[in-house]
Amino acid sequence: MTSATGTYHWPVMVSEVLESLGVHPGGTYIDCTLGDGGHSVAILEAAAGPGPTGEHGRLLGLDADPEAIVATTARLDSYGGSAVLVNTNFEHLGQTAASQGFIPADGVLFDLGLSSRQLDAEDRGFSFKRPASLDMRFSAEGELTADYIVNEWPEEDLANLIYKFGEEPKSRKIAKAIVRNRTIVDAKHLGDVVARASGYRKGRTHPATRTFQALRIGVNHEIESLQAGLGQAASVLDGGGRLVTISYHSLEDREIKRFVVGSDQMKAVVKKVIRPSKAEVERNPRSRSAKLRVVERLIPESDDSRVR
Ligand SMILES: C[S@@+](CC[C@H](N)C(=O)[O-])C[C@H]1O[C@@H](n2cnc3c(N)ncnc32)[C@H](O)[C@@H]1O
Repeated sequence: MTSATGTYHWPVMVSEVLESLGVHPGGTYIDCTLGDGGHSVAILEAAAGPGPTGEHGRLLGLDADPEAIVATTARLDSYGGSAVLVNTNFEHLGQTAASQGFIPADGVLFDLGLSSRQLDAEDRGFSFKRPASLDMRFSAEGELTADYIVNEWPEEDLANLIYKFGEEPKSRKIAKAIVRNRTIVDAKHLGDVVARASGYRKGRTHPATRTFQALRIGVNHEIESLQAGLGQAASVLDGGGRLVTISYHSLEDREIKRFVVGSDQMKAVVKKVIRPSKAEVERNPRSRSAKLRVVERLIPESDDSRVR
Protein backbone atom coordinates (compact mmCIF):
# COMPACT_ATOMS: atom_id res chain seq x y z
CA MET A 1 0.00 0.00 0.00
CA THR A 2 1.37 3.43 -0.86
CA SER A 3 1.09 6.43 1.45
CA ALA A 4 -0.69 9.73 0.92
CA THR A 5 2.62 11.13 -0.39
CA GLY A 6 2.84 8.38 -3.02
CA THR A 7 5.65 6.47 -1.26
CA TYR A 8 5.62 2.90 0.05
CA HIS A 9 6.63 4.12 3.51
CA TRP A 10 4.24 6.57 5.21
CA PRO A 11 6.38 9.46 6.46
CA VAL A 12 5.60 10.34 10.08
CA MET A 13 4.47 13.80 11.29
CA VAL A 14 5.33 15.55 8.01
CA SER A 15 3.81 18.94 8.82
CA GLU A 16 5.34 18.85 12.34
CA VAL A 17 8.76 18.10 10.77
CA LEU A 18 8.50 21.01 8.32
CA GLU A 19 7.41 23.41 11.03
CA SER A 20 10.05 22.21 13.51
CA LEU A 21 12.84 22.48 10.94
CA GLY A 22 11.54 25.94 10.00
CA VAL A 23 11.82 25.03 6.31
CA HIS A 24 11.90 28.16 4.13
CA PRO A 25 12.52 28.88 0.44
CA GLY A 26 16.21 28.88 -0.42
CA GLY A 27 17.17 26.85 2.68
CA THR A 28 19.78 24.07 2.92
CA TYR A 29 18.65 20.82 4.55
CA ILE A 30 20.05 17.38 5.31
CA ASP A 31 17.84 14.31 5.66
CA CYS A 32 20.10 11.76 7.37
CA THR A 33 17.56 8.93 6.96
CA LEU A 34 16.25 9.29 3.41
CA GLY A 35 14.29 5.99 3.30
CA ASP A 36 11.51 6.30 0.74
CA GLY A 37 12.01 10.06 0.53
CA GLY A 38 8.67 11.15 1.99
CA HIS A 39 10.19 13.77 4.31
CA SER A 40 12.77 14.77 1.69
CA VAL A 41 10.10 15.50 -0.93
CA ALA A 42 8.11 17.57 1.57
CA ILE A 43 11.27 19.53 2.48
CA LEU A 44 12.20 20.09 -1.18
CA GLU A 45 8.70 21.34 -1.97
CA ALA A 46 8.68 23.74 0.99
CA ALA A 47 12.22 24.97 0.27
CA ALA A 48 11.74 25.38 -3.49
CA GLY A 49 11.87 28.86 -4.87
CA PRO A 50 14.44 31.54 -4.26
CA GLY A 51 15.29 32.68 -0.77
CA PRO A 52 16.40 36.21 0.15
CA THR A 53 19.75 35.71 -1.63
CA GLY A 54 18.11 34.33 -4.80
CA GLU A 55 19.30 30.76 -4.06
CA HIS A 56 16.85 27.86 -4.43
CA GLY A 57 16.39 25.31 -1.65
CA ARG A 58 18.67 22.23 -1.55
CA LEU A 59 18.54 18.88 0.15
CA LEU A 60 21.21 16.29 0.91
CA GLY A 61 19.73 12.84 1.57
CA LEU A 62 21.75 10.07 3.24
CA ASP A 63 20.90 6.43 3.76
CA ALA A 64 23.06 3.49 4.82
CA ASP A 65 20.87 1.16 2.75
CA PRO A 66 21.77 1.16 -0.97
CA GLU A 67 18.26 -0.10 -1.80
CA ALA A 68 16.75 3.07 -0.26
CA ILE A 69 18.96 5.22 -2.48
CA VAL A 70 17.97 3.25 -5.60
CA ALA A 71 14.25 3.38 -4.76
CA THR A 72 14.33 7.12 -4.06
CA THR A 73 16.66 8.37 -6.81
CA ALA A 74 13.97 8.15 -9.52
CA ARG A 75 11.44 9.77 -7.22
CA LEU A 76 13.67 12.81 -6.64
CA ASP A 77 14.82 13.03 -10.27
CA SER A 78 12.56 15.97 -11.06
CA TYR A 79 14.36 18.11 -8.44
CA GLY A 80 17.59 17.93 -10.48
CA GLY A 81 20.65 19.32 -8.71
CA SER A 82 18.55 20.53 -5.76
CA ALA A 83 18.56 16.99 -4.37
CA VAL A 84 21.84 15.16 -3.75
CA LEU A 85 21.63 11.55 -2.50
CA VAL A 86 24.53 9.67 -0.93
CA ASN A 87 24.66 6.05 0.19
CA THR A 88 26.44 6.38 3.52
CA ASN A 89 25.94 5.87 7.22
CA PHE A 90 25.04 9.09 9.04
CA GLU A 91 28.04 8.49 11.27
CA HIS A 92 29.86 10.12 8.30
CA LEU A 93 27.50 13.12 8.25
CA GLY A 94 30.23 15.73 8.81
CA GLN A 95 32.57 14.71 6.02
CA THR A 96 29.70 13.95 3.59
CA ALA A 97 28.07 17.34 4.17
CA ALA A 98 31.44 19.03 3.74
CA SER A 99 32.32 17.22 0.51
CA GLN A 100 28.85 17.89 -0.97
CA GLY A 101 28.91 21.60 -0.03
CA PHE A 102 26.06 21.43 2.52
CA ILE A 103 27.76 23.30 5.37
CA PRO A 104 26.32 25.37 6.97
CA ALA A 105 22.90 23.71 6.92
CA ASP A 106 19.64 25.29 8.07
CA GLY A 107 18.17 21.99 9.23
CA VAL A 108 19.09 18.36 9.85
CA LEU A 109 16.56 15.53 10.19
CA PHE A 110 16.93 12.05 11.70
CA ASP A 111 13.88 9.78 11.31
CA LEU A 112 15.37 6.71 12.97
CA GLY A 113 14.86 2.98 12.57
CA LEU A 114 13.45 1.07 9.64
CA SER A 115 11.26 2.00 6.70
CA SER A 116 8.17 -0.05 5.88
CA ARG A 117 9.94 -1.12 2.69
CA GLN A 118 12.74 -2.70 4.76
CA LEU A 119 10.39 -4.19 7.34
CA ASP A 120 8.20 -5.79 4.67
CA ALA A 121 11.07 -6.99 2.46
CA GLU A 122 10.98 -10.74 1.81
CA ASP A 123 14.77 -11.12 2.04
CA ARG A 124 16.11 -8.80 4.78
CA GLY A 125 15.12 -10.71 7.93
CA PHE A 126 13.77 -7.65 9.83
CA SER A 127 10.30 -9.13 10.37
CA PHE A 128 9.37 -12.17 12.47
CA LYS A 129 6.48 -12.73 10.07
CA ARG A 130 8.62 -13.75 7.09
CA PRO A 131 10.82 -16.80 6.49
CA ALA A 132 13.73 -14.60 5.32
CA SER A 133 17.38 -15.28 6.08
CA LEU A 134 18.48 -13.59 9.30
CA ASP A 135 20.53 -10.77 7.80
CA MET A 136 19.26 -7.44 9.27
CA ARG A 137 22.19 -5.40 7.93
CA PHE A 138 21.34 -1.98 6.51
CA SER A 139 24.17 -2.51 4.05
CA ALA A 140 26.09 -5.57 2.85
CA GLU A 141 29.28 -3.73 3.89
CA GLY A 142 28.66 -4.68 7.52
CA GLU A 143 30.28 -7.97 8.52
CA LEU A 144 28.05 -8.99 11.42
CA THR A 145 24.66 -10.57 10.61
CA ALA A 146 21.76 -11.50 12.87
CA ASP A 147 22.28 -15.11 11.78
CA TYR A 148 25.79 -15.11 13.25
CA ILE A 149 24.63 -13.62 16.57
CA VAL A 150 21.67 -16.00 16.86
CA ASN A 151 23.46 -19.19 15.86
CA GLU A 152 27.05 -18.60 17.02
CA TRP A 153 27.18 -16.29 20.03
CA PRO A 154 27.47 -17.80 23.52
CA GLU A 155 24.12 -17.85 25.36
CA GLU A 156 25.27 -15.30 27.94
CA ASP A 157 26.31 -12.73 25.29
CA LEU A 158 23.06 -13.29 23.41
CA ALA A 159 21.02 -12.74 26.59
CA ASN A 160 22.98 -9.56 27.37
CA LEU A 161 22.38 -8.15 23.88
CA ILE A 162 18.64 -8.88 24.04
CA TYR A 163 18.48 -7.25 27.47
CA LYS A 164 20.60 -4.20 26.60
CA PHE A 165 19.20 -3.30 23.18
CA GLY A 166 15.72 -4.81 23.52
CA GLU A 167 15.12 -3.96 27.20
CA GLU A 168 13.57 -7.44 27.26
CA PRO A 169 12.89 -8.67 30.82
CA LYS A 170 12.78 -12.30 29.61
CA SER A 171 16.16 -12.07 27.85
CA ARG A 172 17.74 -15.06 29.68
CA LYS A 173 14.79 -17.35 28.99
CA ILE A 174 14.73 -16.29 25.34
CA ALA A 175 18.49 -16.75 24.87
CA LYS A 176 18.28 -20.24 26.41
CA ALA A 177 15.43 -21.20 24.04
CA ILE A 178 17.34 -19.88 21.01
CA VAL A 179 20.45 -21.89 21.91
CA ARG A 180 18.34 -25.01 22.54
CA ASN A 181 16.67 -24.67 19.12
CA ARG A 182 19.84 -24.05 17.09
CA THR A 183 20.14 -24.01 14.13
CA ILE A 184 17.61 -21.16 13.73
CA VAL A 185 16.97 -21.23 10.00
CA ASP A 186 15.18 -17.95 9.32
CA ALA A 187 13.42 -14.92 10.81
CA LYS A 188 10.04 -16.64 11.11
CA HIS A 189 11.66 -19.60 12.92
CA LEU A 190 13.31 -17.16 15.35
CA GLY A 191 10.02 -15.32 15.89
CA ASP A 192 8.25 -18.59 16.71
CA VAL A 193 10.99 -19.76 19.12
CA VAL A 194 10.96 -16.42 20.96
CA ALA A 195 7.14 -16.35 21.08
CA ARG A 196 7.03 -19.84 22.61
CA ALA A 197 9.76 -18.99 25.14
CA SER A 198 8.14 -15.79 26.32
CA GLY A 199 4.54 -16.93 26.30
CA TYR A 200 2.56 -15.54 23.38
CA ARG A 201 -0.77 -13.97 24.24
CA LYS A 202 -3.03 -12.75 21.47
CA GLY A 203 -3.82 -9.06 21.19
CA ARG A 204 -0.63 -7.52 22.57
CA THR A 205 2.64 -6.57 20.91
CA HIS A 206 4.28 -9.64 19.36
CA PRO A 207 6.64 -11.12 21.97
CA ALA A 208 9.55 -11.20 19.50
CA THR A 209 9.43 -7.43 18.89
CA ARG A 210 12.04 -6.55 21.51
CA THR A 211 14.38 -9.40 20.50
CA PHE A 212 14.26 -8.35 16.84
CA GLN A 213 14.88 -4.73 17.82
CA ALA A 214 17.91 -5.80 19.88
CA LEU A 215 19.40 -7.85 17.05
CA ARG A 216 18.92 -5.04 14.51
CA ILE A 217 20.52 -2.48 16.84
CA GLY A 218 23.44 -4.81 17.54
CA VAL A 219 24.01 -5.80 13.90
CA ASN A 220 24.06 -2.17 12.72
CA HIS A 221 25.82 -0.59 15.75
CA GLU A 222 22.88 1.80 15.84
CA ILE A 223 23.55 3.47 19.17
CA GLU A 224 27.18 4.27 18.29
CA SER A 225 26.09 5.60 14.86
CA LEU A 226 23.43 7.77 16.47
CA GLN A 227 25.91 9.23 18.96
CA ALA A 228 28.33 10.03 16.12
CA GLY A 229 25.62 11.44 13.84
CA LEU A 230 24.12 13.71 16.51
CA GLY A 231 27.52 15.09 17.45
CA GLN A 232 28.29 15.93 13.82
CA ALA A 233 24.83 17.46 13.27
CA ALA A 234 25.77 20.16 15.74
CA SER A 235 28.86 21.03 13.71
CA VAL A 236 27.18 21.11 10.27
CA LEU A 237 24.30 23.37 11.41
CA ASP A 238 24.35 27.12 11.03
CA GLY A 239 23.68 29.24 14.13
CA GLY A 240 19.91 29.11 14.68
CA GLY A 241 19.69 25.96 12.49
CA ARG A 242 17.39 23.20 13.70
CA LEU A 243 17.99 19.53 14.47
CA VAL A 244 14.82 17.44 14.38
CA THR A 245 14.81 13.83 15.54
CA ILE A 246 12.06 11.21 15.39
CA SER A 247 12.73 8.16 17.55
CA TYR A 248 10.66 5.01 18.00
CA HIS A 249 11.97 3.42 21.19
CA SER A 250 13.31 4.53 24.54
CA LEU A 251 16.97 3.65 23.86
CA GLU A 252 17.11 6.06 20.92
CA ASP A 253 15.17 8.74 22.79
CA ARG A 254 17.49 8.44 25.78
CA GLU A 255 20.55 8.97 23.55
CA ILE A 256 18.97 12.08 22.03
CA LYS A 257 18.11 13.53 25.45
CA ARG A 258 21.62 12.74 26.70
CA PHE A 259 23.10 14.49 23.67
CA VAL A 260 21.01 17.64 24.14
CA VAL A 261 21.67 17.85 27.89
CA GLY A 262 25.41 17.30 27.38
CA SER A 263 25.81 19.71 24.46
CA ASP A 264 26.91 23.28 24.96
CA GLN A 265 26.09 24.01 21.30
CA MET A 266 22.43 22.98 21.20
CA LYS A 267 19.36 23.96 23.17
CA ALA A 268 15.88 22.44 23.14
CA VAL A 269 13.36 24.61 21.29
CA VAL A 270 10.30 22.74 22.51
CA LYS A 271 10.86 21.08 25.88
CA LYS A 272 8.11 18.49 25.48
CA VAL A 273 8.23 15.76 22.85
CA ILE A 274 5.83 16.08 19.93
CA ARG A 275 3.65 13.01 19.28
CA PRO A 276 1.57 12.07 16.24
CA SER A 277 -2.10 13.00 16.32
CA LYS A 278 -4.75 10.38 17.00
CA ALA A 279 -5.83 10.64 13.38
CA GLU A 280 -2.29 9.94 12.15
CA VAL A 281 -1.93 6.88 14.41
CA GLU A 282 -5.25 5.55 13.11
CA ARG A 283 -4.13 6.11 9.52
CA ASN A 284 -0.60 4.80 10.10
CA PRO A 285 -0.32 2.55 13.18
CA ARG A 286 3.48 2.34 12.72
CA SER A 287 3.64 6.00 13.82
CA ARG A 288 2.23 5.23 17.29
CA SER A 289 5.55 5.13 19.16
CA ALA A 290 7.10 8.15 17.36
CA LYS A 291 8.60 10.95 19.48
CA LEU A 292 9.75 14.13 17.76
CA ARG A 293 12.28 16.45 19.43
CA VAL A 294 13.51 19.83 18.18
CA VAL A 295 16.77 21.50 19.17
CA GLU A 296 18.54 24.57 17.86
CA ARG A 297 22.19 25.30 17.19
CA LEU A 298 23.28 28.09 19.51
CA ILE A 299 26.63 29.62 18.77
CA PRO A 300 27.93 29.99 15.21
CA GLU A 301 31.41 28.58 14.76
CA SER A 302 34.01 29.40 12.16
CA ASP A 303 33.82 27.29 8.98
CA ASP A 304 37.10 25.54 9.85
CA SER A 305 35.79 24.15 13.11
CA ARG A 306 32.65 22.73 11.48
CA VAL A 307 34.40 20.16 9.27
CA ARG A 308 35.55 17.04 11.09
C1 LIG B 1 12.19 5.34 9.27
S1 LIG B 1 13.12 5.20 7.81
C2 LIG B 1 13.08 6.83 7.15
C3 LIG B 1 11.87 7.09 6.33
C4 LIG B 1 11.89 8.42 5.62
N1 LIG B 1 11.88 9.53 6.55
C5 LIG B 1 10.75 8.55 4.64
O1 LIG B 1 10.01 9.53 4.72
O2 LIG B 1 10.61 7.66 3.79
C6 LIG B 1 14.76 5.13 8.39
C7 LIG B 1 15.82 5.04 7.30
O3 LIG B 1 17.05 5.36 7.91
C8 LIG B 1 18.05 4.51 7.43
N2 LIG B 1 19.07 4.43 8.47
C9 LIG B 1 18.98 3.88 9.68
N3 LIG B 1 20.14 4.02 10.36
C10 LIG B 1 20.98 4.70 9.53
C11 LIG B 1 22.31 5.16 9.67
N4 LIG B 1 23.03 4.94 10.77
N5 LIG B 1 22.85 5.85 8.64
C12 LIG B 1 22.13 6.10 7.52
N6 LIG B 1 20.87 5.66 7.32
C13 LIG B 1 20.29 4.97 8.33
C14 LIG B 1 17.35 3.20 7.16
O4 LIG B 1 18.06 2.45 6.19
C15 LIG B 1 15.98 3.67 6.67
O5 LIG B 1 15.95 3.76 5.27
